[in-house]
Amino acid sequence: MVLVVALCLTISAFPEQTTAQLNRNFYSKTCPNVEQIVRNVVQMKVKQTFVTIPATLRLFFHDCFVNGCDASVMIQSTPTNKAEKDHPDNISLAGDGFDVVIQAKKALDANPHCRNKVSCADILSLATRDVVVAAGGPSYEVELGRFDGLVSTAFSVEGNLPGPSDNVNKLNALFKKNNLTQEDMIALSAAHTLGFAHCSKVFNRIYNFNRTISVDPTLNMTYAKELQMACPKNVDPRIAINMDPVTPRTFDNVYYKNLQQGKGLFTSDQVLYTDVRSRPTVNAWARDSPSFNRAFVTAMTKLGRVGVKTSRNGNIRRDCGAFN
Ligand SMILES: *[C@@H]1O[C@H](CO)[C@@H](O)[C@H](O)[C@H]1NC(C)=O
Ligand SMILES: *[C@@H]1O[C@H](CO)[C@@H](O)[C@H](O)[C@H]1NC(C)=O
Ligand SMILES: *[C@@H]1O[C@H](CO)[C@@H](O)[C@H](O)[C@H]1NC(C)=O
Ligand SMILES: *[C@@H]1O[C@H](CO)[C@@H](O)[C@H](O)[C@H]1NC(C)=O
Repeated sequence: MVLVVALCLTISAFPEQTTAQLNRNFYSKTCPNVEQIVRNVVQMKVKQTFVTIPATLRLFFHDCFVNGCDASVMIQSTPTNKAEKDHPDNISLAGDGFDVVIQAKKALDANPHCRNKVSCADILSLATRDVVVAAGGPSYEVELGRFDGLVSTAFSVEGNLPGPSDNVNKLNALFKKNNLTQEDMIALSAAHTLGFAHCSKVFNRIYNFNRTISVDPTLNMTYAKELQMACPKNVDPRIAINMDPVTPRTFDNVYYKNLQQGKGLFTSDQVLYTDVRSRPTVNAWARDSPSFNRAFVTAMTKLGRVGVKTSRNGNIRRDCGAFN
């Protein structure tokens, strides 16, 4: 019995890869125009709705942090399975991120070479690079060859995504689980240079900080007043505010300059400056945009390697929202 099992393991391990080997030319034979096709769809979609940019970036991050970069976040729930995207922490996953992947998949499937050849996980990785570029961020080569996951459950989201009140210890621990360093964490936090949050996420910082003071003392007082105007006490908690109050539509290092001035929207942003361990990096990147861009590209590439599936534990989905 033991011998049979051992033999099977050897045989099955031999012809197929057990660890994912990503590479930039994964589709050079099967779908040589994959990059162009995805980019065209992304550019068209971004022209229609700016929200495509932050939504796609967030979707990629959420996908990779929960069960790896395998498009498990795109699976729709069924009567027998509550999927990842329906965990309450999905509040910020605007539909435009899903839509850009679905549209790009449709465009790929219209090409006879590419039909059902490109994984949804790779489409999302490419689209994410393309939205960063569309917002003025750095371009980079995307490693490809991820397979789509075969599992998506809401409960797997629990405790795996950073929250708005996390401190540096908590953030470091969450990123470490995904093989990402503190530097990677600080670089990826700059995704908050784009997009919006809901008032409900900042009420505690501007009205109920603790029993003795109402406003978080690490908040810039001018900014705190602006936030109170935008989010009055009894406002609809779903009202959206920009994450970056200065350049909300540009991917840039102003995120770090804001932190130096106490203008991080979430506690989890501002702690990067208040904590002495991360402050030197914030200061360096506030000063030097090229070095921030390099760090961001490194971190995105490492993020794209998290929990990648192979043909052994994944496949190429025909519909990004449903298992084959
Ligand atoms: C998020 O989850 C809720 C249920 O918790 C669901 O109603 C909603 O459609 C989901 N949002 C997205 C964008 O998938
Ligand atoms: C409220 O926060 C301030 C500033 O962080 C702190 O000095 C004070 O001790 C806190 N008060 C309570 C009751 O936690
Ligand atoms: C707070 O923000 C204002 C302008 O928005 C700025 O002039 C000021 O320097 C900031 N304060 C601190 C402590 O950085
Ligand atoms: C982190 O890296 C180790 C060693 O390369 C690997 O075995 C592990 O699967 C990686 N973890 C994730 C979540 O990708």
